[in-house]
Amino acid sequence: MARTRMVRRWRRNMEVSDDAQYTHTLTTLSEGSVRRNFNPYTDIDWNSPEFAVIDDDDRWILPGTDPIGRHPWYQAQPRERQIQIGMWRQANVAKVGLQFEIILIRGLTNYAFWVPNGSPEYRYCMHETVEECNHTMMFQEMVNRIGADVPGMPRMLRWLSPFIPLIAGPLPIPFFFGVLAGEEPIDHTQKMVLREGKALHPIMERVMAIHVAEEARHISFAHEYLRKRLPYLSRWQRFWLSWNVPIIMRVLCQAIIVPPKSFWREFDIPRSVKKDLFFRAPESRQFLRDMFGDVRMLCHETGLMNPFARLVWRLCKIDGRPSRYRSEPARQHVVAA
Ligand SMILES: [Fe+2]
Ligand SMILES: [Fe+2]
Repeated sequence: MARTRMVRRWRRNMEVSDDAQYTHTLTTLSEGSVRRNFNPYTDIDWNSPEFAVIDDDDRWILPGTDPIGRHPWYQAQPRERQIQIGMWRQANVAKVGLQFEIILIRGLTNYAFWVPNGSPEYRYCMHETVEECNHTMMFQEMVNRIGADVPGMPRMLRWLSPFIPLIAGPLPIPFFFGVLAGEEPIDHTQKMVLREGKALHPIMERVMAIHVAEEARHISFAHEYLRKRLPYLSRWQRFWLSWNVPIIMRVLCQAIIVPPKSFWREFDIPRSVKKDLFFRAPESRQFLRDMFGDVRMLCHETGLMNPFARLVWRLCKIDGRPSRYRSEPARQHVVAA
């Protein structure tokens, strides 16, 4: 009996056709995907001479917005070494991005499998899946061209990756928070690099510009999805979720942002530098906090902030002011610009 009630509630949660505003937003997002989309092989001219990856190219030196790029240890390295580290790092970020996207694709299709006929969520989930498939090809092409044999995520997460998308069907709300935990940090870092305006390799620049343009819709969808569901949770569910959200954010962000063991070994980077970077130095801490301003805003506005949740946000070191609007640049970036 209890089980059928649970299944009924689960199915009812997927019924969204009676919410005109939500349906309208999803239609707008889907139409956006039709109007403005990219193909990794027609929108990037991989074979043009300016896209060639050549040795000794200063444009691979990490920008100042990258935590490694702005560290005095990195800046004191010889130029060739800075280029090598820069290429490895940027290839690995792309690899992590595509691995995360594969997890997301698996989860979105698991969710879409159960969506009832006529729901606008089906179409949007599939648009997002198509876009993410294109991103994975674009990122892999970039990794191949850079030529560094990078592993991407830490080994532990690679092994766990087949299981994460399984929760998307039965527990879509934690899954969509997980989506934000990956998309927000990647998008935040890419936007910061583009805003900084340093000369980047054209591959990096083009790939990031395409990615940021399409990610905006994906992040909107995750926010809208959660905003629609969160008000209907029971008090107990809301409380449970409120203190788990910061943990999901911190754990996934850590796995995505911190380079894997092989990076530190390959370039023989001192432990103290690693500690500074992730996340002992005040700038690194600020960088970590800034990534989640939009998620804090979402939690504030949907009743997921209570004294205990606040404490967990603080313990995870990602507490702070919520954004006033989505994608609000952190203050120091505006000053730098
Ligand atoms: Fe993506
Ligand atoms: Fe995405």
